[in-house]
Amino acid sequence: MIELAVNNVAKDFGGLRALNQVSFKINGPELVGLIGPNGAGKTTLTNILDGVLKPTTGTVYLNGHRIDILPPYQVALAGLGRTFQVTRAFRRMTVLENLLVPAMALHATAHRKDMEEKAWGVLEFLTFEHLANDLGRSLSGGQQKLLELGRLLMLDPDIIILDEPFAGVHPKLMETIYEYITTVNAQGKAFIIISHDMDTIFTLSKRLLVLHFGTLIADGDPDVVRHDPAVIEAYLGEEDDDALTTTISQPGVHHPPPEGGPENDRH
Ligand SMILES: Nc1ncnc2c1ncn2[C@@H]1O[C@H](COP(=O)(O)OP(=O)(O)OP(=O)(O)O)[C@@H](O)[C@H]1O
Ligand SMILES: [Mg+2]
Repeated sequence: MIELAVNNVAKDFGGLRALNQVSFKINGPELVGLIGPNGAGKTTLTNILDGVLKPTTGTVYLNGHRIDILPPYQVALAGLGRTFQVTRAFRRMTVLENLLVPAMALHATAHRKDMEEKAWGVLEFLTFEHLANDLGRSLSGGQQKLLELGRLLMLDPDIIILDEPFAGVHPKLMETIYEYITTVNAQGKAFIIISHDMDTIFTLSKRLLVLHFGTLIADGDPDVVRHDPAVIEAYLGEEDDDALTTTISQPGVHHPPPEGGPENDRH
């Protein structure tokens, strides 16, 4: 049974309240989208969930165990894994080594042979076998995002948080990432997916959380959230991103990923 409980989490950076009394629960292998304008607090929330940041107030429980007091590696061992908004593949290691390192580091007593076997299973799942001996840096931005997903799968997490898995990714690879998410979700793992790609996130998610200035302003069925006046207002208030406003009020309008090649990211 998977249960994540976020209870009244707040996070202050000096005088800035980045998160304000955020509460929600995830029960079972849900597929949850997390959206909100730039600076809404999405990455900060992720950093709190995976133990990189401590909340100023509030608690987080995973499967009944309090995790907000644990360091990141113990949160990972407890069953929560995340990818980063800016991809962090080990550039000078091979793809196979990239999969092995976090798993070996966290499971110190594990046998390398067992881990390698598992890594080959993950490579096969990602259809990455032919890339096993290539260096991390030779992969495209989208392939690195898939590799990151693979590194998480090595740890058998219950909950996977993906921060901008589609940002700057070639449309063809976007489809592939989308399919991997739905497949892994169907295998019983919960997802929280952060994305500015409105078309994709509204189609992919079964439930949407919306953050605005650190406050959770909506939590529910994507079709209901789409028409929520507070959500529309939050996006209409964004002066510099007409695409978001258009997409949120006009479902089905397709927006290609930002230009600038596979290395492009929002940060
Ligand atoms: N380490 C930090 N120190 C100070 N302020 C921070 C820090 N991290 C984030 N912030 C601030 O907290 C707020 C939330 O930032 P966060 O990165 O969580 O937003 P986000 O929703 O992930 O935005 P984006 O969509 O642009 O990735 C912003 O105002 C940001 O400037
Ligand atoms: Mg962010």
